[in-house]
Amino acid sequence: TSYDIAYIVGSNSRESINRKLAGALVKLAPPSLSFREVEIENLPLYNRDFEGARPERVDAFTAKVRSADGLMIVMPEHNRSLPAVLKNAIDWGSKPADQNVWRDKPTFITGTSPGAIGTAVGQQHLRQILGAVSGIVLGGECYLQFKPELIDADGNVTVESTRKFLAGHLARFADLVPKLASR
Ligand code: FNR
Repeated sequence: TSYDIAYIVGSNSRESINRKLAGALVKLAPPSLSFREVEIENLPLYNRDFEGARPERVDAFTAKVRSADGLMIVMPEHNRSLPAVLKNAIDWGSKPADQNVWRDKPTFITGTSPGAIGTAVGQQHLRQILGAVSGIVLGGECYLQFKPELIDADGNVTVESTRKFLAGHLARFADLVPKLASR
C-alpha cells in the first residue's frame, strides 16, 4: 500500500531553500509514502467575507489537503514564527470548522534556515497552531541549519549523518501514517 502525502513548502520564494529540502526529503522517504506538493503561494489573504463563495483556488487547495493520508510541512522561520503565507493557508483550511481539513491529519513538520537553530522556534509556533486546528503532529524535532553545499545539484543531501537524521524522522512518520489513515 502506498500512502498519499501532500507536502506544503511554507515559503513563497522562487529560490526557497525549503523547497530544495522538501525535494531531498522525498528522495529519503520510505517507498510506502508517495508525495505531491500542494502550493499555497497564490492563495488570497484570508477574509471571512469570502465564506459562502470561496475563490476557486481556495477550494482547490482545501480539496488537495483533505484527500491526503498525511501532510509534510517544510518551512522557514520568519521572526521566530511561521511565515505568514503558511498561516494564511492554515486559516483557509481550518474554516468552516465542520470542514476543517487539518483535523486528525498525521503531519510531519520540518524546515531549514541559515541560522544555527534554524526554524526550531518557528516550529514550536506551528505545532501550537496545528494543535489548535486538531492536527496530529509527529513528535520529535527536525530542523536543519542550511548551508549551500548541504544539497547538491541533483537534489541530494550531501552529508551522511544528515541523511540518516532526516531518514529517521521520515521512517517514524511512515509508521504513524497507517495508524491514522482513514482506510
Ligand atoms: C527571515 N529569516 C530568519 N531565519 C531564521 O533562522 N530565523 C528567523 O526568525 C528569521 N526571520 C526572518 C524573517 C523574514 C521576514 C525573512 C524574509 C527571513 C531568514 C530565512 O531563514 C531565510 O530567508 C531563508 O532562506 C528562508 O527560507 P526560504 O524562503 O528560502 O525557504
